[in-house]
Amino acid sequence: MLSDNYGRIITSLRISITKKCNLNCIYCHQEGDDIESLREVSPGTISRTVTAAAEFGVKKVKFSGGEPLMRHDFENIIAALPPLKDISATTNGVLLAKRAASLADSGLDRVNISLPSLDKENYAKLTGSSLAFPHVLEGIRAAIDAGLTPIKLNMVLLKGINDSRIDDAIHFVSGYDGNVILQLIELMNFKNISRYMVDIGGVEKMLESKASCIKERQLHRRKKYFIDGVEVELVRPIDNSSFCANCNRLRLTSSGKLKPCLMRNDNLVEISENATVQEIGEMLKRTVEKREPYYKDELKQVICRT
Ligand code: GTP
Ligand code: 5AD
Repeated sequence: MLSDNYGRIITSLRISITKKCNLNCIYCHQEGDDIESLREVSPGTISRTVTAAAEFGVKKVKFSGGEPLMRHDFENIIAALPPLKDISATTNGVLLAKRAASLADSGLDRVNISLPSLDKENYAKLTGSSLAFPHVLEGIRAAIDAGLTPIKLNMVLLKGINDSRIDDAIHFVSGYDGNVILQLIELMNFKNISRYMVDIGGVEKMLESKASCIKERQLHRRKKYFIDGVEVELVRPIDNSSFCANCNRLRLTSSGKLKPCLMRNDNLVEISENATVQEIGEMLKRTVEKREPYYKDELKQVICRT
């Protein structure tokens, strides 16, 4: 088992496989990736890293980018993994329609799809692409048809752009008959765009008032609100010591470095291309040693193991 100095047990690995992206979203945090290297982690290193992590009990892998579908070998990367409980990807959905079936055949279980606005014009302004929107809608449909469910639609909350349209988003998701979860995300201000920050406490209160039932996930103690038959998950990472206290993720960057926390790049551990599974196992232990909650408030920090 990989347990850090704060009692957090690592159960999932988040792997960025490329920095390339076919969109240019104004808010994108690029997984907090180190920017200096464009080298892309090889399928062999990914497979050996996941094998080493699985030996320590890691059962979930999430692929992200950049945009993971920019890699033409994504299906091969997935097919080379050892057996796991949950293999997912977070994508912008633009290229998904053509590849949903082949990704599912390779072993992908589900996808999260970024959809920051339901309005075509707004979407174009946010992403820099005036053509992408209909392709994303096709991607959602294809992912459902391929069984890549439940799909989570990721909506980063942006003041004046989508914060007054949450009801519309819930209504939109209700049209997918339970195959889609709406995930509302507090903006992390990586790009000096504080003018778009939303009062997340207000959003939380609004969701509370509408929900027929509220549950809490163990991961990051995220709340799930059930509203008009739709599941709405709220990701609230900022200044949130409970979020960090219940973080069970380790990351692998697109240039092949183990990364203890999204928010930091000063404590990465490089995996060399020829490292064996056993050597990577030792690197995983070293990386976990470096893990530290980004936000910590010792008095309030309660690790939730339900
Ligand atoms: P699943 O529930 O397994 O699908 O994962 P997820 O919802 O975390 O994945 P997704 O890629 O859709 O991320 C949703 C949001 O959570 C994004 O804004 C991520 O940046 C954020 N997030 C995920 N993991 C972390 C983390 O470790 N730290 C912080 N601060 N944010 C995270
Ligand atoms: N703050 C919060 N979430 C973000 N994402 C991208 N940039 C940010 C940010 N600055 C989310 C997108 C994407 C997921 C991987 O991260 O919704 O789906």
